[in-house]
Amino acid sequence: MVDEGRASQAKRMLTIQDLHVFHGPIEAVHGISLNVERGKCISLLGPNGAGKTSTISAITGIARATGSVRFEEREISGDSVEARIASGIAVSPEGRRIFSNLTILENLTLGAAIQKDQKEKGRDIDHWFSLFPILAERRDQAAGTLSGGEQQMLAIARALMARPKILLLDEPSLGLAPKIVRQIFDLIGTLKDQGMTILLVEQNATQALRLADYAYLMSSGRIVAHGTADELGKSDKLMAELTGVA
Ligand SMILES: Nc1ncnc2c1ncn2[C@@H]1O[C@H](COP(=O)(O)OP(=O)(O)OP(=O)(O)O)[C@@H](O)[C@H]1O
Ligand SMILES: [Mg+2]
Repeated sequence: MVDEGRASQAKRMLTIQDLHVFHGPIEAVHGISLNVERGKCISLLGPNGAGKTSTISAITGIARATGSVRFEEREISGDSVEARIASGIAVSPEGRRIFSNLTILENLTLGAAIQKDQKEKGRDIDHWFSLFPILAERRDQAAGTLSGGEQQMLAIARALMARPKILLLDEPSLGLAPKIVRQIFDLIGTLKDQGMTILLVEQNATQALRLADYAYLMSSGRIVAHGTADELGKSDKLMAELTGVA
Protein backbone atom coordinates (compact mmCIF):
# COMPACT_ATOMS: atom_id res chain seq x y z
CA MET A 1 0.00 0.00 0.00
CA VAL A 2 2.75 2.39 1.06
CA ASP A 3 4.85 1.38 -1.96
CA GLU A 4 1.93 2.00 -4.28
CA GLY A 5 1.56 5.49 -2.79
CA ARG A 6 5.25 6.18 -3.36
CA ALA A 7 5.09 4.87 -6.91
CA SER A 8 2.18 7.13 -7.82
CA GLN A 9 3.94 10.11 -6.23
CA ALA A 10 7.08 9.40 -8.26
CA LYS A 11 5.03 9.45 -11.45
CA ARG A 12 3.59 12.85 -10.59
CA MET A 13 5.41 15.67 -12.27
CA LEU A 14 3.09 18.61 -11.73
CA THR A 15 0.36 18.78 -9.12
CA ILE A 16 -1.89 21.78 -8.67
CA GLN A 17 -4.20 22.04 -5.69
CA ASP A 18 -6.84 24.65 -4.92
CA LEU A 19 -5.29 27.15 -7.33
CA HIS A 20 -6.81 30.63 -7.45
CA VAL A 21 -5.40 33.04 -10.05
CA PHE A 22 -5.79 36.81 -9.97
CA HIS A 23 -5.41 39.63 -12.49
CA GLY A 24 -5.36 42.70 -10.27
CA PRO A 25 -8.58 42.55 -8.26
CA ILE A 26 -10.19 40.00 -10.63
CA GLU A 27 -10.16 36.33 -9.67
CA ALA A 28 -9.98 34.41 -12.97
CA VAL A 29 -9.51 30.87 -11.60
CA HIS A 30 -11.48 29.73 -8.56
CA GLY A 31 -9.67 26.88 -6.87
CA ILE A 32 -8.78 24.22 -9.42
CA SER A 33 -6.81 21.02 -8.89
CA LEU A 34 -5.11 18.92 -11.53
CA ASN A 35 -2.33 16.45 -11.96
CA VAL A 36 0.18 15.82 -14.76
CA GLU A 37 2.04 12.52 -14.66
CA ARG A 38 5.53 12.04 -16.05
CA GLY A 39 5.56 11.15 -19.76
CA LYS A 40 1.86 11.86 -20.23
CA CYS A 41 0.00 14.40 -22.34
CA ILE A 42 -2.70 16.08 -20.27
CA SER A 43 -5.11 18.47 -21.91
CA LEU A 44 -6.80 21.50 -20.39
CA LEU A 45 -9.84 22.30 -22.51
CA GLY A 46 -12.38 25.06 -22.41
CA PRO A 47 -13.93 28.01 -24.24
CA ASN A 48 -12.70 31.62 -24.41
CA GLY A 49 -12.23 33.17 -20.99
CA ALA A 50 -12.37 29.83 -19.13
CA GLY A 51 -9.10 30.55 -17.32
CA LYS A 52 -6.73 28.29 -19.26
CA THR A 53 -4.01 30.88 -19.93
CA SER A 54 -4.39 32.20 -16.38
CA THR A 55 -3.63 28.68 -15.14
CA ILE A 56 -0.53 28.45 -17.35
CA SER A 57 0.58 31.90 -16.11
CA ALA A 58 0.23 30.73 -12.51
CA ILE A 59 2.35 27.63 -13.22
CA THR A 60 5.12 29.74 -14.77
CA GLY A 61 4.85 32.36 -12.01
CA ILE A 62 3.74 35.24 -14.22
CA ALA A 63 0.30 35.65 -12.62
CA ARG A 64 -0.45 36.13 -8.93
CA ALA A 65 -1.94 33.00 -7.44
CA THR A 66 -2.76 31.23 -4.20
CA GLY A 67 -2.86 27.48 -3.58
CA SER A 68 -0.27 24.81 -4.22
CA VAL A 69 1.86 24.18 -7.31
CA ARG A 70 4.16 21.20 -6.82
CA PHE A 71 6.75 20.29 -9.46
CA GLU A 72 8.68 17.06 -9.04
CA GLU A 73 7.46 16.81 -5.46
CA ARG A 74 8.63 20.31 -4.52
CA GLU A 75 6.42 23.30 -3.76
CA ILE A 76 7.31 25.98 -6.34
CA SER A 77 4.55 28.52 -5.74
CA GLY A 78 7.03 30.86 -4.01
CA ASP A 79 9.68 30.54 -6.75
CA SER A 80 10.55 33.26 -9.28
CA VAL A 81 9.76 32.84 -12.99
CA GLU A 82 13.49 32.29 -13.66
CA ALA A 83 13.76 29.59 -10.99
CA ARG A 84 10.78 27.76 -12.45
CA ILE A 85 12.34 27.83 -15.94
CA ALA A 86 15.62 26.59 -14.48
CA SER A 87 13.82 23.73 -12.74
CA GLY A 88 12.48 22.48 -16.09
CA ILE A 89 9.22 24.23 -16.96
CA ALA A 90 8.94 25.71 -20.48
CA VAL A 91 6.02 27.32 -22.23
CA SER A 92 5.05 27.89 -25.83
CA PRO A 93 2.80 30.88 -25.14
CA GLU A 94 -0.59 31.78 -26.54
CA GLY A 95 -0.08 33.86 -29.70
CA ARG A 96 3.46 32.38 -30.12
CA ARG A 97 5.37 35.54 -29.11
CA ILE A 98 8.35 34.83 -31.31
CA PHE A 99 10.83 37.65 -32.04
CA SER A 100 9.76 38.66 -35.56
CA ASN A 101 12.87 40.69 -36.42
CA LEU A 102 15.29 38.02 -35.30
CA THR A 103 16.18 35.00 -37.41
CA ILE A 104 14.97 31.51 -36.64
CA LEU A 105 18.43 30.58 -35.41
CA GLU A 106 18.53 33.64 -33.11
CA ASN A 107 15.07 32.81 -31.72
CA LEU A 108 16.21 29.28 -30.94
CA THR A 109 19.45 30.47 -29.36
CA LEU A 110 17.45 32.77 -27.05
CA GLY A 111 15.30 29.79 -26.05
CA ALA A 112 18.46 28.19 -24.70
CA ALA A 113 19.55 31.27 -22.75
CA ILE A 114 20.06 29.23 -19.57
CA GLN A 115 22.29 26.75 -21.41
CA LYS A 116 25.88 28.01 -21.17
CA ASP A 117 27.71 25.38 -23.19
CA GLN A 118 27.82 26.56 -26.83
CA LYS A 119 28.57 23.09 -28.20
CA GLU A 120 25.58 21.62 -26.39
CA LYS A 121 23.45 24.46 -27.66
CA GLY A 122 24.55 23.74 -31.24
CA ARG A 123 23.79 20.05 -30.78
CA ASP A 124 20.30 20.87 -29.47
CA ILE A 125 19.64 23.18 -32.42
CA ASP A 126 20.70 20.42 -34.85
CA HIS A 127 18.45 17.96 -33.02
CA TRP A 128 15.36 20.18 -33.24
CA PHE A 129 16.15 21.12 -36.85
CA SER A 130 15.95 17.41 -37.68
CA LEU A 131 12.44 17.29 -36.20
CA PHE A 132 11.44 20.62 -37.76
CA PRO A 133 13.13 20.52 -41.22
CA ILE A 134 11.25 23.58 -42.44
CA LEU A 135 12.95 25.64 -39.72
CA ALA A 136 16.35 24.32 -40.77
CA GLU A 137 15.73 25.42 -44.37
CA ARG A 138 14.82 28.92 -43.21
CA ARG A 139 17.32 29.25 -40.36
CA ASP A 140 18.68 32.67 -41.42
CA GLN A 141 15.30 34.15 -42.33
CA ALA A 142 13.52 36.68 -40.08
CA ALA A 143 10.99 34.76 -38.00
CA GLY A 144 8.25 37.28 -38.87
CA THR A 145 8.35 36.08 -42.49
CA LEU A 146 7.31 32.54 -41.53
CA SER A 147 3.74 31.32 -42.03
CA GLY A 148 1.48 30.97 -38.97
CA GLY A 149 2.08 27.22 -38.76
CA GLU A 150 5.84 27.63 -39.11
CA GLN A 151 5.84 30.32 -36.41
CA GLN A 152 4.00 27.89 -34.14
CA MET A 153 6.65 25.25 -34.82
CA LEU A 154 9.33 27.81 -33.99
CA ALA A 155 7.58 28.72 -30.71
CA ILE A 156 7.51 25.04 -29.73
CA ALA A 157 11.12 24.44 -30.81
CA ARG A 158 12.24 27.54 -28.88
CA ALA A 159 10.54 26.23 -25.72
CA LEU A 160 12.26 22.85 -26.22
CA MET A 161 15.68 24.55 -26.43
CA ALA A 162 15.49 25.08 -22.65
CA ARG A 163 15.53 21.26 -22.30
CA PRO A 164 12.35 21.25 -20.25
CA LYS A 165 11.01 18.39 -18.19
CA ILE A 166 7.49 19.61 -18.90
CA LEU A 167 6.25 21.50 -21.94
CA LEU A 168 3.26 23.79 -21.53
CA LEU A 169 1.53 24.47 -24.86
CA ASP A 170 -1.03 27.28 -24.86
CA GLU A 171 -3.41 26.87 -27.82
CA PRO A 172 -0.92 25.76 -30.47
CA SER A 173 -3.73 25.39 -33.04
CA LEU A 174 -4.99 28.97 -32.66
CA GLY A 175 -5.78 30.61 -36.01
CA LEU A 176 -4.33 27.83 -38.16
CA ALA A 177 -5.96 26.04 -41.12
CA PRO A 178 -7.17 22.46 -40.45
CA LYS A 179 -4.35 20.87 -42.47
CA ILE A 180 -1.72 22.81 -40.52
CA VAL A 181 -3.48 22.05 -37.24
CA ARG A 182 -3.11 18.33 -38.01
CA GLN A 183 0.63 18.83 -38.70
CA ILE A 184 1.07 20.64 -35.37
CA PHE A 185 -0.78 17.89 -33.49
CA ASP A 186 1.27 15.19 -35.27
CA LEU A 187 4.37 16.99 -34.07
CA ILE A 188 3.08 17.13 -30.50
CA GLY A 189 2.36 13.40 -30.83
CA THR A 190 5.99 12.81 -31.86
CA LEU A 191 7.23 14.75 -28.82
CA LYS A 192 4.95 12.67 -26.60
CA ASP A 193 6.27 9.45 -28.19
CA GLN A 194 9.79 10.67 -27.39
CA GLY A 195 8.81 10.83 -23.72
CA MET A 196 8.07 14.53 -23.21
CA THR A 197 5.57 15.43 -20.50
CA ILE A 198 3.02 17.85 -21.95
CA LEU A 199 0.24 20.07 -20.65
CA LEU A 200 -1.77 20.96 -23.73
CA VAL A 201 -4.19 23.90 -23.48
CA GLU A 202 -6.70 23.82 -26.31
CA GLN A 203 -10.09 24.89 -27.57
CA ASN A 204 -9.86 22.25 -30.31
CA ALA A 205 -11.12 19.38 -28.14
CA THR A 206 -11.43 16.86 -30.97
CA GLN A 207 -7.74 17.08 -31.89
CA ALA A 208 -6.52 17.44 -28.30
CA LEU A 209 -8.44 14.37 -27.13
CA ARG A 210 -6.83 12.28 -29.86
CA LEU A 211 -3.49 12.85 -28.14
CA ALA A 212 -4.30 13.37 -24.50
CA ASP A 213 -4.07 10.59 -21.93
CA TYR A 214 -6.38 12.55 -19.67
CA ALA A 215 -8.24 15.84 -19.97
CA TYR A 216 -9.75 18.52 -17.76
CA LEU A 217 -12.58 20.73 -18.98
CA MET A 218 -12.59 24.28 -17.62
CA SER A 219 -15.43 26.74 -17.70
CA SER A 220 -15.69 30.13 -15.95
CA GLY A 221 -12.59 29.51 -13.83
CA ARG A 222 -13.57 26.04 -12.63
CA ILE A 223 -12.93 22.46 -13.70
CA VAL A 224 -16.35 21.14 -14.63
CA ALA A 225 -15.36 17.66 -15.85
CA HIS A 226 -12.32 15.45 -16.19
CA GLY A 227 -11.51 12.01 -17.52
CA THR A 228 -9.92 10.05 -20.33
CA ALA A 229 -10.96 10.82 -23.91
CA ASP A 230 -13.23 7.76 -23.80
CA GLU A 231 -14.83 8.80 -20.53
CA LEU A 232 -15.43 12.35 -21.70
CA GLY A 233 -16.65 11.13 -25.08
CA LYS A 234 -19.42 9.06 -23.47
CA SER A 235 -21.42 12.16 -22.69
CA ASP A 236 -22.91 13.74 -25.83
CA LYS A 237 -23.77 16.95 -24.01
CA LEU A 238 -20.25 17.24 -22.68
CA MET A 239 -18.73 16.51 -26.07
CA ALA A 240 -20.88 19.27 -27.58
CA GLU A 241 -19.55 21.64 -24.93
CA LEU A 242 -15.99 20.45 -25.51
CA THR A 243 -16.07 20.82 -29.26
CA GLY A 244 -18.11 24.00 -29.23
CA VAL A 245 -20.83 22.35 -31.33
CA ALA A 246 -24.23 23.04 -29.78
N1 LIG B 1 -4.28 40.61 -17.74
C1 LIG B 1 -5.57 40.50 -17.40
N2 LIG B 1 -6.21 41.48 -16.76
C2 LIG B 1 -7.52 41.37 -16.39
N3 LIG B 1 -8.27 40.28 -16.63
C3 LIG B 1 -7.69 39.27 -17.29
C4 LIG B 1 -6.31 39.32 -17.71
N4 LIG B 1 -6.02 38.15 -18.33
C5 LIG B 1 -7.16 37.43 -18.30
N5 LIG B 1 -8.15 38.08 -17.68
C6 LIG B 1 -9.53 37.59 -17.45
O1 LIG B 1 -9.46 36.33 -16.83
C7 LIG B 1 -10.43 35.44 -17.36
C8 LIG B 1 -9.74 34.19 -17.88
O2 LIG B 1 -8.93 34.55 -19.01
P1 LIG B 1 -7.89 33.54 -19.67
O3 LIG B 1 -7.07 34.32 -20.61
O4 LIG B 1 -7.20 32.78 -18.61
O5 LIG B 1 -8.89 32.56 -20.45
P2 LIG B 1 -8.56 31.45 -21.55
O6 LIG B 1 -9.28 30.22 -21.12
O7 LIG B 1 -7.11 31.35 -21.78
O8 LIG B 1 -9.30 32.04 -22.83
P3 LIG B 1 -8.87 31.98 -24.40
O9 LIG B 1 -9.26 30.62 -24.89
O10 LIG B 1 -9.66 33.07 -25.02
O11 LIG B 1 -7.39 32.23 -24.48
C9 LIG B 1 -11.19 36.23 -18.41
O12 LIG B 1 -12.37 36.71 -17.83
C10 LIG B 1 -10.25 37.36 -18.75
O13 LIG B 1 -10.95 38.51 -19.15
MG1 LIG C 1 -5.91 31.67 -23.38
